Amino acid sequence: MNILGIETSCDETAAAVVQNGTQILSNVIASQVDIHSRYGGIVPEVASRQHLLTVIPIIEEAMSQAQARWSDLDAIAVTIGPGLAGSLLVGVNMAKAIALAQGLPIIGINHLEAHIYANWLEGRAPDFPAVCLIVSGGHTDLVLMRGHGDYQLLGRTRDDAAGEAFDKVARILGLGYPGGPAIEQAAVDGNGTTYRLPRAWLKGTDDFSFSGLKTAVLHLVQKNDDISAADVAASFQESVVDVLVSKTVDTARKLGAHQILLCGGVASNQLLRQTMAQRSPIPILIPSPILCTDNAAMTASCGYFRLKAGETSGWDLDVEPNIRLA
Ligand code: KG4
Ligand code: ZN
Repeated sequence: MNILGIETSCDETAAAVVQNGTQILSNVIASQVDIHSRYGGIVPEVASRQHLLTVIPIIEEAMSQAQARWSDLDAIAVTIGPGLAGSLLVGVNMAKAIALAQGLPIIGINHLEAHIYANWLEGRAPDFPAVCLIVSGGHTDLVLMRGHGDYQLLGRTRDDAAGEAFDKVARILGLGYPGGPAIEQAAVDGNGTTYRLPRAWLKGTDDFSFSGLKTAVLHLVQKNDDISAADVAASFQESVVDVLVSKTVDTARKLGAHQILLCGGVASNQLLRQTMAQRSPIPILIPSPILCTDNAAMTASCGYFRLKAGETSGWDLDVEPNIRLA
């Protein structure tokens, strides 16, 4: 079963063809980073207009790389949210147009669920029950996945998402946008034990909080003129990773989970990947970095398992910018 995935929830225009939910035939991503970095962050109207310009060439490229004809496709999977409304509309309308023209079923996909399904694209089937840590620019969710489509929200951030904290701290340190890769790069030359930055444990809950940490970095930088950005970046990264790993591992152990699944843009962070691997008592899966950040292969994979469960969407499919996973 070949599924064309389309993803336009934020600032990446992406299309992919995936076979049987697990095998990537093509995975094409056009990033708008260069356009938005001028503004220090994503400008929603600019993002939607850019999707409008790139979505057809990206889909054509995905079909060409997969050596697929329209008649080889079995369905279209498209992200409906969470994300920027104007950006999501471009992808959903495009998906409807292709589905109508080719007589294909369409299925609307939750972007957070799609992030989890990146773990099905690495040649191994995850083991249930799994504790999933979704760490992206807009979300930090800890979710128990008992089976396909069966989710229980365990905890989430009460303020900034982990990726958002990386982006804001990078801005404080003048490291540019997007902040995650910039902080990771700067931290290579820094010492993560230089500053003992706060960790919000929120004991007795599976929730997270990163805004206090961000404020602590701001005060530290304001008080010290000649501070080393590398040391601050490394200390900040240690603090975020310590909390994410400790809470995920404790919860997975408490619930008797068989596996920990990491996903979302922040999961491409090397320190997070290594620390989770070292401290987890149970097997972990983390997609390769290109499948952690936004892509459409994960959307297509998620679509496959939804279709297999008998679900499809109708022509009344709408965007849902604030949709939650559970
Ligand atoms: O999943 P994603 O590509 O888009 C959303 O759904 O939000 O995640 C983007 C976020 C950004 O905040 C970015 O700074 C962060 O992931 N990120 C990283 C790294 N690469 C991307 N954070 C830490 N380390 C990285 N290497
Ligand atoms: Zn994402």
